[in-house]
Amino acid sequence: MPDDAKARLVSKLVPNTPALVYDESELVDTASRIRRMAADAGCDLAYAMKPCTLAWALETIAPFVTGFAASSPFEAQLGRQILDDRGALHYHSVAVTESEFEQVAELADFMSLNSITQFHARQPQSNDRVSLGMRVNPGISFVADERYDPCRRHSKLGAPIDALSTFGSRILDGLMFHTNCESDDLRHLLATVSSMERRLTQVISDLDWLNLGGGYMFREGTDTTPLRQSVEILKSRSNTKIFIEPGAAFVRDAGYIVSTVLDIFDSNGVDVAVLDTTINHMPEVFEYQFEPEVLDYQPEGEHRYILAGRSCLAGDIFGDYTFDDPLKIGDRVTFMEMGAYTQPKAHTFNGINLPDVYAYTKEGNLALLTSMKYEHFAARNGAHQHAYS
Ligand SMILES: Cc1ncc(COP(=O)(O)O)c(C=O)c1O
Repeated sequence: MPDDAKARLVSKLVPNTPALVYDESELVDTASRIRRMAADAGCDLAYAMKPCTLAWALETIAPFVTGFAASSPFEAQLGRQILDDRGALHYHSVAVTESEFEQVAELADFMSLNSITQFHARQPQSNDRVSLGMRVNPGISFVADERYDPCRRHSKLGAPIDALSTFGSRILDGLMFHTNCESDDLRHLLATVSSMERRLTQVISDLDWLNLGGGYMFREGTDTTPLRQSVEILKSRSNTKIFIEPGAAFVRDAGYIVSTVLDIFDSNGVDVAVLDTTINHMPEVFEYQFEPEVLDYQPEGEHRYILAGRSCLAGDIFGDYTFDDPLKIGDRVTFMEMGAYTQPKAHTFNGINLPDVYAYTKEGNLALLTSMKYEHFAARNGAHQHAYS
C-alpha cells in the first residue's frame, strides 16, 4: 500500500514538477510479495515490461523474477540488456515480421506467436535458442469493457482454443494466454485453466511450458489458492513449466506523479485548479475515464476544486476533488498509484514536456533517472539538424 506520509514527504522534496517518482522500498516490498505468492503456488515469475520500462525499475525488479516478458524488439533489446544472463526473456507480439523474428530469436528464450498463420510463417526461421509456442485465446471473458477484453468476440489476441485443439500436439513447445485486467480474483484464472485442461488435454500434456499471463494484482491479502490449484491441475497432466507474468502488480503502487498548481479561477461557480501536469502524462485517466487517487483528498472536505491538466483539450481533467485545506497557486498536488502504464504511455501533445522521473531510494534520497530536454523534443520532431546548425 502506498504510504501517504511518505508521499507527502516526497512531494515536498521533489525540486521540479511535474515529476514521476518511484518509491524503491515499495517496489521491492511488492516484488518480494509477488515472488513469495508465485513460489507458494509452484510457478515461475516473470515481469511483463509494458507498464514500466525504466531501466532502474527493471534493475530493481530483476532479482525477484526469473525473467522479463517483452512485446516488441525495443523492449526485447532493453530486457536482454538489463537481464544479461540473469534470466529468461519471454516474447509475445501480435505480429512478428521476418526481420523482427531474426533479431528477437537471438535475444528471447520463449516466444509465443499470436496465430496459426504466424506460427507456420515463422517456425522455419527458428533456431535452437528460442522455444516456440503460441498464444491461445481461451474465449472466456472477465473484463466488462470490451476495449480491454482479450477474449472479446472476434478477438485478435491469440488462436481460438478450438482451432488449437485440432492443431496437433508436439508441434508447439508452449502456450501462453492472458485474459484479464487489474483483477484481484484468481478464481478467474482457475476457471480458465480448468476449461483449457478439459478442451486441450492432449496438447497440454505434450507442452514444455505454459505461460498464464498477467492481469492480476497480487495485493496483500489476495487469495492465491486458485493459482496454486491451477498449477496443480496443469502439473498433474505433465511436467510442464508454469510461468505467470504480471506487469502492473509490480509497479502500480510504487509510483506518484507530483504536480504544482499553476492557476485557480472560478468557472460557473466551481474553482478550477490548473496543474502543471496533464492527462498526457497519465493517458489511462482519459482512456478509462476514471478519477485518480489524489493525496489529501477528503470526501467530506469543504474546499472543492476541479483538478485540470494544462493542455488545450477541454477534457484534460482529472476530476472533482474536495480537500480540508484550500489550495493555493504553487501548492503541490500528488497523484497516487501512478506507477503502471504512465511512463511508457506519456506523450508530449501541445509540446508539454514529460515529467522528470526520480527514484526515492531506500536510503531516503531522490535520484533523478530521466529528464527530457528540448533537444529530445527537437530530435523527435526531426528538427535536431536545425537546432544545431
Ligand atoms: C501478454 C501479456 N502479458 C502480461 C501483461 C501484463 O498485464 P498486467 O499489467 O495487467 O498485469 C499483458 C498486458 O497487456 C499482456 O498482454
